[in-house]
Amino acid sequence: MKLLSFAFLLIGIFLMMFFNYSTDIMYTSYKNVKSQSQSKALKESIKRGNIVYSDFCVSCHLPNGNGVNKIYPPLANSDYLEANRDASIKGLKFGLKGKIKVNGVEYNKYMPPMGLSAEEIADVMNYTNHSWGNTFGKIVTVAEVCEIK
Ligand code: HEC
Repeated sequence: MKLLSFAFLLIGIFLMMFFNYSTDIMYTSYKNVKSQSQSKALKESIKRGNIVYSDFCVSCHLPNGNGVNKIYPPLANSDYLEANRDASIKGLKFGLKGKIKVNGVEYNKYMPPMGLSAEEIADVMNYTNHSWGNTFGKIVTVAEVCEIK
């Protein structure tokens, strides 16, 4: 009798371990699928953002994202862009005016709003956040752009 209950105990422990293990596997593969689909969405957004950039931004911020010293601030390696995600989105929606400091250089100019849709702004933000060596934050979504007033 004692042996039997010992056997049941062993089976119980085994089942618990197995259950734990299989939920772990399920959770990890769920997380992988999720992050894969997010990075796919990011890649596609960056591709669209590249087109927006060439149409609307390149004339001032230049193809290499370096801008023109003291006239048009850089986006490549820009500490402002990295630290001011909301203000950058806001600037693209409504224009950006007044004193800002980018990589130690002061600008006091005006960037006009370009009439971009929320999707175009999300895409071009994703492009600038992930080009020229920039790796700034997670994907910018259309909902996030819409929320900024
Ligand atoms: C007519 C020229 C012009 C165009 C076109 C333009 N910008 Fe700007 N941009 C500026 C100027 C000037 C500033 C600085 C404004 C200030 O001094 O307050 C600026 C600032 C910025 C900033 C914040 C500062 C930085 O360098 O990190 C971002 C981000 C930005 N622009 C992104 C864009 C994107 C993306 C586009 C295209 C959708 C674009 N700009 C198109 C002139 C321009």
